[in-house]
Amino acid sequence: MKVTVSRKAHFNAAHRLFRKEWSDKKNNSVFGKCSNPHYHGHNYELIVHVTGLVDPKTGYVIDMKILKELIKSEVEDKMDHKNLNEEVPEFVEMIPTAENIAIVIYNKLKPHLNSKHSLEVTLYETPRNFVSYSG
Ligand code: NI
Repeated sequence: MKVTVSRKAHFNAAHRLFRKEWSDKKNNSVFGKCSNPHYHGHNYELIVHVTGLVDPKTGYVIDMKILKELIKSEVEDKMDHKNLNEEVPEFVEMIPTAENIAIVIYNKLKPHLNSKHSLEVTLYETPRNFVSYSG
């Protein structure tokens, strides 16, 4: 029987959504407040869902301590209190929208999981705006 286990995490980070080849005016018309040239922060809420078979010996899909440590080392340590555009290498060329951040988080976590497990990442940029990515 397959069960989904989920772990919540949180990080604060700054970003700016813009294309450098566009004027500030054009960036503002496409990205609105998120294109502020002086950056701004979000309180990101992350939910990591892992789906797999329950191990008959442990009763676990995945040990939550392991999942917690993985989220800390791969996401929190790399993104918390960072300027995403300038301090996270993936976003030097990729715009750090919630969509792209979710994809980057998925790609950082996936290689560390059992290949039989499926992963879904849900990322809240605001309490009302959130995205999900499952590969
Ligand atoms: Ni923003």
